[in-house]
Amino acid sequence: MRTTVGIIGAGPAGLLLARLLHNAGIDSVVLESRDRAYVEHRQRAGILEQGTVDVLRAAGAGERMDREGLRHDGIELRFAKRRHRVDFPGLTGGRSVMVYAQTEVCKDLIALQLKEGGPLLFEAEALAVEGADSESPLVRFRHEGREDVLECDYVVGCDGSWGVARKAIPEELTQVFERTYPFGWLGILADVPPSHDELVYAHHDRGFALLSMRSPQVSRLYLQVPEGTDAEEWTDEAIWDELERRFETADDWRLERGPITQKSVTPMRSYVHEPMRHGRLFLAGDAAHIVPPTGAKGLNLAVGDVVTFARALVHLKETGSAERLDAYSETCLRRVWQAERFSYAMTTLLHRTPGATPFEDRIQLARLDRITAARSAEQDLAECYTGFPLE
Ligand code: FAD
Ligand code: DHB
Repeated sequence: MRTTVGIIGAGPAGLLLARLLHNAGIDSVVLESRDRAYVEHRQRAGILEQGTVDVLRAAGAGERMDREGLRHDGIELRFAKRRHRVDFPGLTGGRSVMVYAQTEVCKDLIALQLKEGGPLLFEAEALAVEGADSESPLVRFRHEGREDVLECDYVVGCDGSWGVARKAIPEELTQVFERTYPFGWLGILADVPPSHDELVYAHHDRGFALLSMRSPQVSRLYLQVPEGTDAEEWTDEAIWDELERRFETADDWRLERGPITQKSVTPMRSYVHEPMRHGRLFLAGDAAHIVPPTGAKGLNLAVGDVVTFARALVHLKETGSAERLDAYSETCLRRVWQAERFSYAMTTLLHRTPGATPFEDRIQLARLDRITAARSAEQDLAECYTGFPLE
């Protein structure tokens, strides 16, 4: 098989890239190791930045998002039983975010790709990328029990944090920056209307908690838990009791309970692989960088990477100049590091770190106080949360 752009992975990065290339008249083939149902139901991100919303609309993939997504104009910070609303449009000159689940973004993009895009092969596992620094790189893959080869002009590794693409970049050219956190998130989906109409990020002595949603009928909630926690250790009742404690306020706010339909634990990690390009192999999304989920940046960064790649390739086709493609890694990394900084700051602001000293606890509260007291600090949070502009 031969194509212009070989895409490994049908997460949001790979699927959106295929769509952007299709719209620009550039052919691609997407290889995805899992089956369609798995990709469409993997419970992950829920918040789309303004820029991501604009990109999906412009790509012709925004119709259902505009119908069913929930525009959010702010979040609530909750600490010391106090509530503080951060007003996004007022602080950013009109920007907001959209609550629309990653599962739904993937469903929409898969439907479009199968209807009018190039090949999208499920249960097609990439085994290795070869010849990244040659004119014609290739992907070896296994599909329907047979090994095959995809010959490409370019390969984009959108294969997530455990993918194979980045292994094709020689170690001596690679630098990895990493940080792990001694806690994770226990996430639940529950069939109960969200107890608040905006997201609530709660700081508590017992640990962080987040109230989010998937629809007006379905709540998504997270609890900070110790690293290595097994979700089955937590009964449904214990989860609701703990959420209730951490969201407690001085007023009469109440957390509504309902049947829990899913629960799982996500570890927290910061990770950046530099460079994001080697020859004709490009890395995009979680394949190149991971952020802890506090601040909701992962999916949005993946979108930024593939937009940058698609624009650079179109620029090459239209002008003959490879300048933008050559600058891909540096261009993406500037944005990536801003998101790393913000996600790290939000994580350390809101979580309880085991072994933190009383001094550090007070500093954390002082940082929260600063956001509620100084417009400049609050504005910085609102600007970062609603998104970093694409270059
Ligand atoms: P992935 O979604 O991981 O997709 C990679 C794809 O490649 C997968 O389908 C995988 O099966 C496939 N693959 C892997 N190896 C191979 C191979 N060898 N061959 C073929 N295919 C392969 N981000 C946000 O922006 N906002 C949020 O609110 C948010 N919340 C989150 C909450 C949780 C609990 C978690 C876990 C993550 C959250 N994120 C959030 C992060 C976000 O989900 C990821 O950043 C996003 O999925 C990255 O997309 P991707 O396409 O790069 O990678
Ligand atoms: C969700 C996840 C996040 O990491 C976040 O900061 C906000 C919302 C969510 O899954 O809804």
